Amino acid sequence: MNLWLPYTQMKTANRPIEVIATEGSTITLADGRVLIDGISSWWTACHGYRHPAIVNAIEDQARRMPHVMLGGIVHPPVLRLGERLAALLPGRGNKVFFCDSGSVAVEVAMKMSVQHWANRSSTGRTSKTRFLTFRDSYHGDTSGAMSLCDPVDSMHANFRGFFVEQFPREIPETDDAQGQLEKFIESQINSLAAVVIEPLVQMAGGMRFHSPAALKRIENVCRKFDVLLIVDEVATGFGRTGSMFAHQQADVVPDIMCVGKGLTGCSVGLAATIASAEVYEPFHSDRAEAALMHGPTFMGNPIACAAANASLDLFETESRLEQVAAVEAQLSDRLSPLSQLDHVHSVTCKGAIGAVRMNQSVDVQAAIKFFLQQSVWIRPLRDTVYIAPAFTITEQELGRLCDAIKAFVSGGS
Ligand SMILES: Cc1ncc(COP(=O)(O)O)c(C=O)c1O
Repeated sequence: MNLWLPYTQMKTANRPIEVIATEGSTITLADGRVLIDGISSWWTACHGYRHPAIVNAIEDQARRMPHVMLGGIVHPPVLRLGERLAALLPGRGNKVFFCDSGSVAVEVAMKMSVQHWANRSSTGRTSKTRFLTFRDSYHGDTSGAMSLCDPVDSMHANFRGFFVEQFPREIPETDDAQGQLEKFIESQINSLAAVVIEPLVQMAGGMRFHSPAALKRIENVCRKFDVLLIVDEVATGFGRTGSMFAHQQADVVPDIMCVGKGLTGCSVGLAATIASAEVYEPFHSDRAEAALMHGPTFMGNPIACAAANASLDLFETESRLEQVAAVEAQLSDRLSPLSQLDHVHSVTCKGAIGAVRMNQSVDVQAAIKFFLQQSVWIRPLRDTVYIAPAFTITEQELGRLCDAIKAFVSGGS
C-alpha cells in the first residue's frame, strides 16, 4: 500500500479495512462483512449514505458541467446555494465564500476578520490580527486553523513555534468566568480580531460539551467589546446537535459562520464561510487592495453545489430533525446508565451524538478491533467512546451500536 493515512502511526496501526460500498448506515467490506457505521464518515452522512436524491443531483450535474472556475464566472447551482446559505444569517446582504474543506473555510474566516479591521482603518493596516479560542478546540489542519486548536492538548502540539500563538481560554460556564473573559478581552482589544468557537460541542477535541448559556455569554462579551464572533459549525451544522445549527439553541447571532462536512450530505467536499453584511461592508470599496484575496481552484464546484442543494432540499422535505430527536432519546435511554460505572467519567447525549467519557484515555487500536468483532464501526477519540450516526439510522441499528458500546465499556476497557 502506498497510502499515508491521516492521523495514523503507520508502523503500529491496525491494517486499514477495505470498504467497497456504503448504503444507509452500513459500510460493506471487501471481505463481505457489513458494519453498522457509528461515525457517519466523520459526521457527514446526515441523510445516510447514497441518498438517491443526492446521487441523482450529482449524476445530473456531472453530465451537464462537472466543473467550471468561479473566478469571473457563476453558475445556477452556486447561485442557488449562495442564496440559501446567505439566508442562514439574519438580515440582508450577507455574503457566502465557497471553498473545498472545513479547514479552508476557517482560514477564510480568519483572513476576513483580520482584513475587516484593516479595511476599516484609515491606514489600511491593523494590529487586530489575533484570535481568542477555547481549550479543547479543533478547527482544522491548515496552519491558520491549527493555530486556533488547543495548543497543548491537541494533535498539533508538535507544531508550536510554527504558527502564530493565539489566546486559548476556558469556556465561560459561570458569571465569574465571564468576568475573567471580559477582563482578558479588554486587555487585548487592540490585538484581537475575533473570538472563534465550535458552538455547544467541541467534537474532534473529544466531544466536550458546553451550555447554550456559556455560548450566549461569549456573544455578550464580543458585543460589549466590539470583537467579531466566528462560529465554526463545520461539525455541528446541519442538524447534528438537534437544531439546524448549534448556535441557534443559544439565540446567538454570529458575524461569521463556517460550514462544511454535512453540507453535501456526505458526497463531495465543499465548505463555505458566511459573513454578515457588516463584516462584508469594508471590503466593498473602490480600493482594489480592499478585496479579499483568496480563491481555491475548486471553490463552488458545480457537482458539490448541486449535491448541497439536494441535501438542503432533503432537510425541507424529510423529517430529519425529528429523526435526530429520536436518536437523542434512544442514545440517552441506552447510554446514560453507563455513567454509573466506576471507570466512566460521564455520559452526554445531545442530538445525534452519544459520548461516553472514560476516566482514562482509551487504547484506540484495541477499541477498534473490539468493535469490528461486533460488526460496528466506532473509533474513540482520546478518552471518549462516542457515536455520531446518520440521522436516518434505524432503531435496531442504533441499538446494535449502543450494545457494542455497553459491551466495550462494561468490559472494563
Ligand atoms: C469544528 C471543525 N472545524 C473545522 C474542521 C476541518 O474540516 P476539514 O476536515 O473539512 O478540513 C473540522 C473537522 O473535523 C471540525 O470539526
